[in-house]
Amino acid sequence: MDMRSGHATTTTELLGTAEQGRLVLAEVLDRLDGAFPAAAGRHRLGPGAWLVPLGGGGELLIALAPASGPGSGPASASASRGRGNGQLVLSATVLGRAVLSDADAARALGCLEAVPFTGWESDAFTEQLPLLSGLMKRVRDKPLGECGLLVVGHLLSDLVVQAQTLIALGARPETMTVVDKGYPHKLRQRVEAHLAGLGVSVVPAADKVDVETALRLHAARVMEPSVVIDDGGLVGPTLMMLAPELLPEYRGVVEQSMAGIEELEVFGADWPLPVFSVAQSTVKRGIEAHWIAESVVRSIRELLPGEAFEDAPALVIGFGTIGEQVASVLRGQRMRVAVYDSEWPRLLAAHEAGYLTAPELAALLDGHRPLLVVSSTGRGAGPGARPSGLGGEDLDFLPGECFVANVSGRASEIDLPGLAERAERIEDLGRVGVRYVLPRGPVTVLADGLPVNLPRGDVSSAVPARQSDLTMAAVVWGACALARPDHGFAAGVDLARTDESIAESGLVERYYRLYGPGVGAGVRERARGSGGAGSESGRRTRSRARISEL
Ligand SMILES: NC(=O)c1ccc[n+]([C@@H]2O[C@H](COP(=O)([O-])OP(=O)(O)OC[C@H]3O[C@@H](n4cnc5c(N)ncnc54)[C@H](O)[C@@H]3O)[C@@H](O)[C@H]2O)c1
Repeated sequence: MDMRSGHATTTTELLGTAEQGRLVLAEVLDRLDGAFPAAAGRHRLGPGAWLVPLGGGGELLIALAPASGPGSGPASASASRGRGNGQLVLSATVLGRAVLSDADAARALGCLEAVPFTGWESDAFTEQLPLLSGLMKRVRDKPLGECGLLVVGHLLSDLVVQAQTLIALGARPETMTVVDKGYPHKLRQRVEAHLAGLGVSVVPAADKVDVETALRLHAARVMEPSVVIDDGGLVGPTLMMLAPELLPEYRGVVEQSMAGIEELEVFGADWPLPVFSVAQSTVKRGIEAHWIAESVVRSIRELLPGEAFEDAPALVIGFGTIGEQVASVLRGQRMRVAVYDSEWPRLLAAHEAGYLTAPELAALLDGHRPLLVVSSTGRGAGPGARPSGLGGEDLDFLPGECFVANVSGRASEIDLPGLAERAERIEDLGRVGVRYVLPRGPVTVLADGLPVNLPRGDVSSAVPARQSDLTMAAVVWGACALARPDHGFAAGVDLARTDESIAESGLVERYYRLYGPGVGAGVRERARGSGGAGSESGRRTRSRARISEL
């Protein structure tokens, strides 16, 4: 949205047929009708072009037209494959800007930015997540029909596929609430509009108070007991501390992040609900970590294309599931990698894996002088406490020019206030991040200290779809498991049962077929025709073993 004085315009790129474009345009006109009583007096200027009065002399000129030039829409690569170029541009300009308040101009243009995805776009997102969307056919008993769902998520396109899959598995949109984690994703307004179009409520959650509000709104609307799909432990602690009377309304929690599991561990045996811990499952720890590490390192390199990392010193803080893989990927790229972990067993593991280690972080910063520091501890620090990864007095040992990347979703992973305090000046480097010019040299915190591989409208730097696909499919599978009355999960984290359930899902095998060695997957898919869902199980058979050995 461009709101400079005397000038207010916006454009939204769409991918779809002319008919799909017209449907979106009709939706936009409806919204304008809802927001501005005068908008009903609109004039059609020609095909796809409208002049919409906003009241008081202000008008909005809207045009929908085919885009010129190569694809740049949200799902262009996949959707235009074999379907021709369906790129459309929806644009709007406020006329008579001076007579409208800023708020009204922004509201009018907002109606054009928050538009649902076209059929092509949502098909393209679905194609990118075959494991997740495949559950629609594989789970036939519609287990979500009798329960509500509270889903914590990022407003990314994969949430659209997740919501559509949940609905296909029986969930009724009016019993679903999406709690938005609030990250500034490029497509967030369109994702929210799409979910609203499906009938799903979207509630923002910047903090625990917002989550409490979301829980109370959900409870007021939904009579059935609900399953929580959490990401980062937003819901569990809020239920325990701010709304314990609502706990009996929940069947259980599916948690996909370790940070969330740690939040629940605080309550020990007092935590009363079953937890389907995708975070600790073999699938997530064994398979996903590698892809995350690759996407982290790729994102770092994309942000710093001119930087020569080969042979340069790097430091990984936190040698856990992700940090171990990050260290390995960096070593694979010929960086000289040192590792620090605050836990002795992990420090020893890093030493035994051949990394330079030391029991003090400051010693590694000062002695190894890393050009790149990647922090992946994920441990929370309470308000005012020392940040978990890189912070406090250790910042004084940062060696001249270096780059710092965060992997964790924790805001406290890197001590940005500590850096700011020490900085002679702070420079905004746009999408690269923020540079703190310290006495010993400039320290650039990549991506402003947010998880460096978090998609920020730059699809190429996102975690690969296959990783998101597996995790989201396991999460939805978990929700189905907890929704069934005979789920067999005890209160608390039942890791053995979670692993057993995911094994029964056949997801790992399908993942291998889809993303593993091409030759085996191709042969089997051809041999089986469509590769029926019912024919797969969580265990490898002899013939499958043979294929993997080709
Ligand atoms: N960016 C992504 O795509 C993505 C994906 C998954 C997970 N994550 C996040 O990455 C983080 C790490 O996840 P994980 O599964 O590897 O966790 P983990 O618990 O397996 O590993 C964390 C490691 O950090 C160490 N540690 C804790 N506090 C420390 C400190 N102050 N200094 C040094 N070491 C410390 C721990 O001993 C442990 O070895 C989490 O915040 C997780 O949510 C990010």
